[in-house]
Amino acid sequence: MKVLVATQKPFAKAAVDGIRKIVEENGHTLALLEKYTETAELLAAVADADALIVRSDKVTAEVVEAARKLKIVVRAGAGFDNLDLAACTAHNVVAMNTPGQNSNAVAELALGLMIFMNRNQFTPGTGSELKGKTLGIQAYGNVGRLVGQLAMGFGMKVLAFDPYLPSEKIVATGAQVAPSLEALYENSDFVSLHIPATPETRGSIGRNLVSRMPKGGCLINTARKEVINEDELFDLLCEREDLRYVADVAPDRAAEFAEKFGKRYFGTPKKMGAETAEANINAGLAAANQICKFFATGDRTFQLNK
Ligand code: 3PG
Repeated sequence: MKVLVATQKPFAKAAVDGIRKIVEENGHTLALLEKYTETAELLAAVADADALIVRSDKVTAEVVEAARKLKIVVRAGAGFDNLDLAACTAHNVVAMNTPGQNSNAVAELALGLMIFMNRNQFTPGTGSELKGKTLGIQAYGNVGRLVGQLAMGFGMKVLAFDPYLPSEKIVATGAQVAPSLEALYENSDFVSLHIPATPETRGSIGRNLVSRMPKGGCLINTARKEVINEDELFDLLCEREDLRYVADVAPDRAAEFAEKFGKRYFGTPKKMGAETAEANINAGLAAANQICKFFATGDRTFQLNK
């Protein structure tokens, strides 16, 4: 079988080497399409691929249709808003992700961004510490729980809101349960977002929630830029000169945010939460193993389009 790794944002070399080893040891061949800029390149490369590994690369209906031999696509990572699951299902393509494999990298970045913002983006001036501050975590999944754990290590009080998780599971980690999403924002110096981008969450973080934050509040977004209502957030930051926003990845209106809000805003130019060698290796190798297991035994653990 031909396994194609198609990554606009390539994996670390160690991850690619590891993927190749797994694929070849299982009797398959590996093809690489890295740093491509045109969809046409992806369409051509998938034409004879039996399996596909991607990161945030968009696997649209057009891509699935062009991939006539495709049997499985694995998103090496957690968020799968880049996969057209309906198109995969329509073409009998199994779609999977690799949940948890890059969570630690994202969680560490969330903490790093908090320190960065509380230390004036590493420019001269008096900053403040994380110890004693309250961190609100919106969605307590693989990343959210790790962020909570790291924050507790810094002596922060952790509040969490997750409607899909029983309260006991949150409490067992040492975090407190916010009774509502509104209460999470009202009681947190920092709010860290760990929600996926879905039709329900897109544009859901705006004035109604962020305006509830106490003085000096800071919103940390290492989830998806699409969950933010950028216009509302922009207007709110104009009105409330104490509020701050830090984003991985930068909003569409990044230039305006940077110009208007100075050190109250920071956005990464490219999504870098999972940009560590460890995360690349964990997610990339997991994707390769999942594909080989699928071909060998039909295993469909982590299938998304059931
Ligand atoms: C994820 O959903 O796993 C992260 O956002 C990582 O995305 P990336 O592989 O494009 O860096």
